[in-house]
Amino acid sequence: MRINSPHMNIIYKACMKASKSLIRDFGEVENLQVSSKGPGDFVSSADKRTEKILIEELLRAHPDYCTITEESGVLNKENKERKWIVDPIDGTMNFLNGIPHFAMSVAFEEKNEIVCGMVFNPITKEIFFAEKGNGAFLNNTRIRVSKKNDLKSSLIATGGPKKNSKIKNLIFDEYIKISNILDTSIRKYGSAALELASVACGRLDGYWQRELNYWDVAAGIIILKEAGGYCNFFQENNKNPLKCNIIASNSLIHKELESHTLKKNIE
Ligand code: IPD
Ligand code: CA
Ligand code: CA
Repeated sequence: MRINSPHMNIIYKACMKASKSLIRDFGEVENLQVSSKGPGDFVSSADKRTEKILIEELLRAHPDYCTITEESGVLNKENKERKWIVDPIDGTMNFLNGIPHFAMSVAFEEKNEIVCGMVFNPITKEIFFAEKGNGAFLNNTRIRVSKKNDLKSSLIATGGPKKNSKIKNLIFDEYIKISNILDTSIRKYGSAALELASVACGRLDGYWQRELNYWDVAAGIIILKEAGGYCNFFQENNKNPLKCNIIASNSLIHKELESHTLKKNIE
């Protein structure tokens, strides 16, 4: 694999190590102890185990780096310059149901800029990664976004709403509005990180979703950008900068996709 930077290498090694137990756990998914973390949001022991290995490996290399994680919160908060951003399993519901569409998502951010990231599906053995200025890769192959330039014939994915969402109607209205423009039905695969990676490699032409967390998308963002795609956040929640609504695309259909998102924002 064409990994250049020490940070990317640390992420790769951490994911490789964590993938071993994750693959085992996926095989035994029925026996996993599942506890409820809130409506529509489950956390499994595999999530915690994977995150523990990832954090141990990442912090072994750089013990002082801030680490933003889904399960353990924010570690080393005082370090504002360098951050690991970790989602141990993005696509937990797929994982829990034996659907091999989930991934570890790990990014490194320096001075508020994501400089490298990896989205690693241990079951399909697809490793998407990118380092700033070096392009994006799927395993050994350079990837590029699609060349589709009209929204109508594009393949678009989304996700949500979460069960406890306060903007369910807005999300459904937006879904209907966008689906009315498209020739093909909207996809919902259930892993924001993999959806971004799928836009990056041209499987999807675009993806948008509200109410995501930063760890769902951080690694996917740099992979998409380095593959020639474009993404932005819309109607940001200033009260919680880790929450985000994202629009991602091959860049050619971006304006058109964005123009069909609903403007009203309900808090
Ligand atoms: C979820 C996935 C899913 C998205 C949810 C996220 P998780 O992350 O990214 O695609 O629709 O909003 O919470 O819980 O599987 O890590
Ligand atoms: Ca996630
Ligand atoms: Ca997760």
